[in-house]
Amino acid sequence: MERLAIVVVLSVALFVFACSGDANDATRPGVNSFGQRTEDLARVAAELTEALAAVEATRAPGLQAGTASRAAAAAAEARLEQVMETIRLPERMRFFSLQSTGPDARTPRLCRLCHAVAGAVVTAIRVQNRTGPALASMVDELCIKANVTSPHICTGMIDSNTPIVEYIVRNTPGLDSGAICGTFMPECADGVASMRWALNKDMGAKPPGQIRSTMLDLKDPPPPVEPYRVLQITDYHWDSEYSPDGNANCGEPTCCRKNQGAPPTPEDRAGRWGDYRSCDIPWETVEEFIKHTQEKLHNVDLIYFTGDVVDHGVWETSREKNEYRIRYTFRVMKESFGDTLILPLVGNHEPHPLNIFAPDYITDDALSTRWLYEVLADEWITHWLPEDTRATILKGGYYTVLVRPGFRVVALNNMYCYTLNWWVLHDPVDPSGQLAWLIDVLLAAEAAKEKVHILAHIPPGNDDCLESWGREFAKIVDRFSATISAQFNGHTHVDDLSIFYDEYGRPNNVAFNGGSLTTYADVNPNYKLYLVDGNHEHATWNVLDAELWGFNLTKANENPDLRPEWYRMYSFKETFNVESLHPFHLDKFIGRLTTDNQLLQQYYWYHMLDSDVGHLTGCDQICAERLICNSVTTITNEIDQCERYFKTLRAQSP
Ligand SMILES: *[C@@H]1O[C@H](CO)[C@@H](O)[C@H](O)[C@H]1NC(C)=O
Ligand SMILES: *[C@@H]1O[C@H](CO)[C@@H](O)[C@H](O)[C@H]1NC(C)=O
Ligand SMILES: *[C@@H]1O[C@H](CO)[C@@H](O)[C@H](O)[C@H]1NC(C)=O
Ligand SMILES: [Zn+2]
Ligand SMILES: [Zn+2]
Repeated sequence: MERLAIVVVLSVALFVFACSGDANDATRPGVNSFGQRTEDLARVAAELTEALAAVEATRAPGLQAGTASRAAAAAAEARLEQVMETIRLPERMRFFSLQSTGPDARTPRLCRLCHAVAGAVVTAIRVQNRTGPALASMVDELCIKANVTSPHICTGMIDSNTPIVEYIVRNTPGLDSGAICGTFMPECADGVASMRWALNKDMGAKPPGQIRSTMLDLKDPPPPVEPYRVLQITDYHWDSEYSPDGNANCGEPTCCRKNQGAPPTPEDRAGRWGDYRSCDIPWETVEEFIKHTQEKLHNVDLIYFTGDVVDHGVWETSREKNEYRIRYTFRVMKESFGDTLILPLVGNHEPHPLNIFAPDYITDDALSTRWLYEVLADEWITHWLPEDTRATILKGGYYTVLVRPGFRVVALNNMYCYTLNWWVLHDPVDPSGQLAWLIDVLLAAEAAKEKVHILAHIPPGNDDCLESWGREFAKIVDRFSATISAQFNGHTHVDDLSIFYDEYGRPNNVAFNGGSLTTYADVNPNYKLYLVDGNHEHATWNVLDAELWGFNLTKANENPDLRPEWYRMYSFKETFNVESLHPFHLDKFIGRLTTDNQLLQQYYWYHMLDSDVGHLTGCDQICAERLICNSVTTITNEIDQCERYFKTLRAQSP
């Protein structure tokens, strides 16, 4: 979740620096985007490794406790302390997503820390043959000494991740700190060639006359039938530890929880239904949402749930806890929505540890994601999906369903492109064969003249998506743009859209982002309702309009004994006065944002789910560039479309 309100300035400054700075600097071998030299980073790693080894030697059992060895131990500890001084973070990280998330994210300091720790860990595993608990305790000590986060959070995260990291380092030749840090923070290395790949699979040519990037499919308005109604709900993140008496300003990645102490001031007290700060929501907010939809939304034809059930207490997840939350949530959804078909997705918060999805050939139970896929297949097929989805859910958490004759939905697991998923370091090439499968599904759909909606948790072009996966996915979207009528995402917790373009820069697809039910962070709870051209024989399954619904968290918390008042924030078509939600008109709409500041501010408020935080901060020049850039970027770092709009935007600004 991006914490736009506070940190946009820094991340965009870095982005602009990385992208538009001196091109020679950025591409000079051995120098990262911050001007740090690879050899200097390697030297810090070597110093850290050495200092650790010296400390380790003095701690070895059997050493005599003489004065000389005590002095040697003290000297070794002092040396380690000296090295730590050069890499320690001045402030603990408050977020575990690195996506423009705080003054601590993606800074030169963080690069140095990453290179040093990754280098020391790789050496410890490969050269010193550290393993198991001994390895975990070394990493734990580094995490605490480097002030990455509070000690108990270090321990929680490291215990669960170390076995996976150890396996990957032992089994991935050539993996070094540059590849590790450069993969999840591209600014930190000078390009990671081993992570680049292309799919070797024939997709055939675009069928003639079926190119969506022209105005062709805008010609015939849909007949006057009732639109097909799709409800999108996403990112519940309900927290069973949530306490309305909790501390919303706790300094940890998630606050408002039991056992985080009393709020230091009355302003720091958590709210009844959630809190704009780094807090998830109590189960009561989910219940309130369900009650509201039961009262107000009788005629929904289909529901998309785009992932993230589990809360942000990411340092204390476990298979058992996550399984319980996942099963409970889906069972309540089934009870609440009855016979209405729900098509669910897996989010990055569902596995334990967080973000980690192993490729299908990893079968060791301690490392594999099989347990999660079994839980999901079990719940999803029991409640909603046909049996023939089981094989791909067990393989990689993805599936396809023919909802009606002529209308298909594909649900992807795109955490296989997530750079915070360690497994992309081991084997980045189309993990679990998902993209190859997608091509086969789309070829068959095209031949059968079906229209397709694609669901995926992470939106295209997200900074944390491996560039090669994103590029291959975008190629597929371009090839099948006439078959794919719309896409739907979650994950960012903001209301958003991403427009795809063909090789001539013509808009040919769109992905809508559904916001979140959680208030984490700075947003109001929300859901979206799409009116789709569906209820007739030649349906395009295009989105005709999107409605955004939510409630005012401040107001709801001020009146804790009343039920929150849900209201329609926008009808996209009416509120923004667009001709249609076709990619062509959405692209025009983004163009208007560059010249009409009032429209931009209004769009930004809804982007922030009409929250008081969004109204308070407003959207300055940097925010505007980021908002617009995100809307037209579907491949990480490919900013051609942004640059086109930046020209107009910058021409406007005083
Ligand atoms: C670690 O971070 C905390 C707050 O995030 C800060 O108060 C403290 O000074 C830092 N410790 C060191 C040793 O830098
Ligand atoms: C590394 O450690 C493991 C377990 O402690 C041991 O079985 C293995 O032989 C060691 N390998 C080397 C190369 O020392
Ligand atoms: C939300 O409610 C608060 C308190 O009633 C009010 O001050 C604020 O203006 C409302 N926000 C919006 C965006 O309407
Ligand atoms: Zn989420
Ligand atoms: Zn997510």
